[in-house]
Amino acid sequence: MRPSDVAKLGAIVLDEVEKAIVGKRPVLERVMLAILCDGHVLIEDYPGLAKTLLAKSFAAALGLEFRPPSRRHHGDVCVRSQSQRVRPPPRSRVH
Ligand SMILES: Nc1ncnc2c1ncn2[C@@H]1O[C@H](COP(=O)(O)OP(=O)(O)OP(=O)(O)O)[C@@H](O)[C@H]1O
Ligand SMILES: [Mg+2]
Repeated sequence: MRPSDVAKLGAIVLDEVEKAIVGKRPVLERVMLAILCDGHVLIEDYPGLAKTLLAKSFAAALGLEFRPPSRRHHGDVCVRSQSQRVRPPPRSRVH
């Protein structure tokens, strides 16, 4: 896929997520970049500012599975930061 195609598709996903998440386009762009890099994102912000909704919205827009973080596995960092993760499906399920 050409970079310009990735940019077009990325913008479509961002527009979709932005229907749910208001006023955070720069943050959404960074999360989109991390997803394209197959990376991880730690979302930190004050309570109730749509961290979970952001992760759920990306998962919905991309057809991915949303899993809330496991406090048992992530310990204090997770409890303090309310981190959210969007996991791609196993490789065998990617079409
Ligand atoms: N920027 C925003 N755009 C759209 N909705 C928002 C925004 N900020 C807050 N909300 C509203 O706040 C609600 C709570 O969001 P959410 O549960 O995702 O917050 P959170 O940051 O995960 O909270 P917590 O820190 O308690 O885990 C959302 O369902 C939404 O209605
Ligand atoms: Mg939350």
